[in-house]
Amino acid sequence: MPDIVTLTVNPTIDKSTSVDSVASEVKMRCAMPTFDPGGGGLNVSRAIKKLGGTSTAIYTAGGGTGAMLTTLLQQEAINTLPIAIADRTRENLTVYEESTGLQYRFGMPGPNVTESEWQGCLDAVLAAEADYIVASGSLAPRMPQDFYMQLAERVKPTKSHLIVDTSNEALEACARAGVFLLKPNLRELEILSGQKFSSEDRLIEITQDLIKSGMTEVFVISMGASGALFITADEAVKMRPPVVPIRSKVGAGDSMVGGIVWALAEGHSLHDAVRYGIAAGSAAVMTRGTELCRKDDVFNIYDRIAIVD
Ligand SMILES: Nc1ncnc2c1ncn2[C@@H]1O[C@H](COP(=O)(O)OP(=O)(O)OP(=O)(O)O)[C@@H](O)[C@H]1O
Ligand SMILES: [Mg+2]
Repeated sequence: MPDIVTLTVNPTIDKSTSVDSVASEVKMRCAMPTFDPGGGGLNVSRAIKKLGGTSTAIYTAGGGTGAMLTTLLQQEAINTLPIAIADRTRENLTVYEESTGLQYRFGMPGPNVTESEWQGCLDAVLAAEADYIVASGSLAPRMPQDFYMQLAERVKPTKSHLIVDTSNEALEACARAGVFLLKPNLRELEILSGQKFSSEDRLIEITQDLIKSGMTEVFVISMGASGALFITADEAVKMRPPVVPIRSKVGAGDSMVGGIVWALAEGHSLHDAVRYGIAAGSAAVMTRGTELCRKDDVFNIYDRIAIVD
């Protein structure tokens, strides 16, 4: 029985390149591209790996790009459990413009994932009987918006702990069913609760009401450079990371979730797991491009996180 499985229903191959300047109508000569696996759950699995842990990544994969995605994950020694789909796995493109330092990010919508294919994802996740299940990222275009709710309903009667990191309708749906841990950022929490927060005290009050209504047992509300609020029915703790050099914010949220679930699977308390999560998120902003957190940075930052009263 694996400790952790991650689920990514709309993964991507992130293709990155650079060019002197982006211009229309001319053929732009780009640098040799690099290819990385992308999508919430896959990044969580990669962050766990960076921390020295293991997880099994369950994800949809189709066509040549799907096969390539599996190869890329295996090159990083991630345990893979691809769910075959008839359509092709998407590729996203990031172009760095050298003359300006600007980054252009082109995101594709993703393949058609049929009902039997997404049901196959749910079956595979449940069959794994993992201690922790992390569902993260967007849904593929025609998948039902309540997909994460269906997942939550099926996980509920089991011993698994479900952690979800997504936004908008997909987040609202799974919160309706009830999960173990949600990690919205402030904007996602405002949309979920339908409220703007006039103060941090008010935020805590509203969030604890949501917990009492059964949405989730734990909220980790991430707040960028300010760190995060860790909230349960009877506890609210704010933790702030030290100031770190910012190179690329890509993957901060996924590294945070990776840090939390890795620490929980290692047997750390919820409080310490959130602290590891914040450290992993901050470590991710210190690395360039799509690179996630480095283990040394995570441990270093972990020791320097302040508990704010
Ligand atoms: N500028 C920063 N400086 C230090 N740490 C940061 C910064 N931005 C993010 N982090 C760390 O990463 C964690 C998650 O970041 P954030 O709140 O931006 O999540 P997010 O909005 O879900 O990100 P993403 O866009 O990756 O989904 C924060 O709690 C913090 O620990
Ligand atoms: Mg996020």
